Amino acid sequence: MEHPDNRVRKVVILGGGTAGWMTAAYLGKALQGTVDITVLEAPSIPRIGVGEATVPNLQKVFFEFLGLSEEEWMQECNASFKMGIRFINWRTNGRGEASPRELPNGREDHFYHTFGLLPEHDGVPLSHYWHHRLHHGRTDEPFEYACFPEPAVMDANKSPRRLDGTPSTRYAWHFDAQLVADFLRRFATGKQGVRHVEDEMTLVCTDDRGFVEALQTKSSGRIEGDLFVDCSGFRGLLINQAMQEPFLDMSDHLLCDSAVATAIAHDDETHGVEPYTSAIAMPSGWTWKIPMLGRFGTGYVYSSRHASQDEATEEFCRMWNLDPETQPLNHIKFRVGRNRRAWVKNVVGIGLSSCFLEPLESTGIYFITAALYQLAKHFPDRSFNEALTDSFNREIETMFDDTRDFIQTHFYFAPREDTPFWKANKDLALPDDIRAKISCYRAGLPVNQPTTDDGTYYGNFDAEFRNFWTNGSYYCMFAGLGLLPDAPLPALSHRPSSLEGAEPLFAEVKNKERHLLETLPSTYDYLRQLHGH
Ligand code: TRP
Repeated sequence: MEHPDNRVRKVVILGGGTAGWMTAAYLGKALQGTVDITVLEAPSIPRIGVGEATVPNLQKVFFEFLGLSEEEWMQECNASFKMGIRFINWRTNGRGEASPRELPNGREDHFYHTFGLLPEHDGVPLSHYWHHRLHHGRTDEPFEYACFPEPAVMDANKSPRRLDGTPSTRYAWHFDAQLVADFLRRFATGKQGVRHVEDEMTLVCTDDRGFVEALQTKSSGRIEGDLFVDCSGFRGLLINQAMQEPFLDMSDHLLCDSAVATAIAHDDETHGVEPYTSAIAMPSGWTWKIPMLGRFGTGYVYSSRHASQDEATEEFCRMWNLDPETQPLNHIKFRVGRNRRAWVKNVVGIGLSSCFLEPLESTGIYFITAALYQLAKHFPDRSFNEALTDSFNREIETMFDDTRDFIQTHFYFAPREDTPFWKANKDLALPDDIRAKISCYRAGLPVNQPTTDDGTYYGNFDAEFRNFWTNGSYYCMFAGLGLLPDAPLPALSHRPSSLEGAEPLFAEVKNKERHLLETLPSTYDYLRQLHGH
């Protein structure tokens, strides 16, 4: 007897922003033309996309999967490089200093969260040997400068790629998300046969089990589907409104809920292009700075409980010497948290409709990429086996909650207490999971799986996603904020051969740093060549 064909035949994506077009392009490829894909995009809905920062796996998990080379998409999207995040004024308020734009590198209160990988020796990460040395008065170098070559390379505004395109270190990208969405729309509609309907949705039609059957539009009729992906942004038109899935608000862990953003022209020739994102602490939040060729995107992310829109705008404009009357400013209000379930019946939320966190660790695009990878892996048939849905939902939950916890620690451990905002962060409760990690850290144990560069970590995205915030990340942030383990890992003091054997690794970091500084082009020169200016 023949089995009926129960495969999904039609996928409908609601929303044509970054999430919508990334979903269309990714599923087009992942499902190899076996499914009809439609994107319904309301022409009148403005996109949120400002300057975006990403993480390194974007190339492998997303662009390479689509068959797109880094040069190709970088050129199309005016992309620049990011080797990590520079956290500025998270320990002190930086009072008495000029605006951060004018501060010479290395003079201000700063530390890096770098994408560099932390080496290991005898199964113990270099972070622990560094702490052992510090504890015994044998180094006074900050953690990331002692253990990674990248911080000095970032200080010098060097490019992570050589002019011939060879990568010299691990890095990610900055770009205008609007350009990425446009590029992926051309790619998905042109190369993958994705149907693009520009119209407004007027009604969500559901069947008697509560599954979505079709989306009714103003002038393009009914769009039927088996699976619906909600990429409609913060409003969650399908997942929250039609399916009534509750959004779990997490503003009791993260206080920032608003932003004021703009783009500022930059004299790259005189000042160079910084190959990193800056996160500059402010009285009621922090400001991002995302350099791209010729300009940078910036925005003050603040807590509306601690600053009014006018106060935040004034503070922000003063910092960059902008005239609030003439400067075009984008005011954004966001919800912090995630849907209780990311996927309900035949509706999956991806992007802002699913979960959102302030962009402090560049996780917006990463969350989309990770959800797409999981959706392809858990792709259902028309019986919508709940074990698939449940497993997908668990992955998204862990991904989000781990990141929320990690970001909360940035505010919790920041030594600043000079304003009500910074004080208030010290009074918020930390969830149990992160408290357990902090206890390990304090006892001198590595936090989370170590990252290795022997090839086992890369390409195994399940392993990478589950250990996304590595021991190296925790060390960059905690040590950077001044939080150190109570004492070095006790076992180390019984392993003199390991301690001795780790010494050459520190020297190697310095040699690599010197070599990179001497041989790498400037980020400005690389980008000018790439973008043909
Ligand atoms: N494992 C992640 C990565 O290296 C950690 C990460 C996410 C990260 N965002 C970051 C590291 C920003 C440095 C800066 O891709």
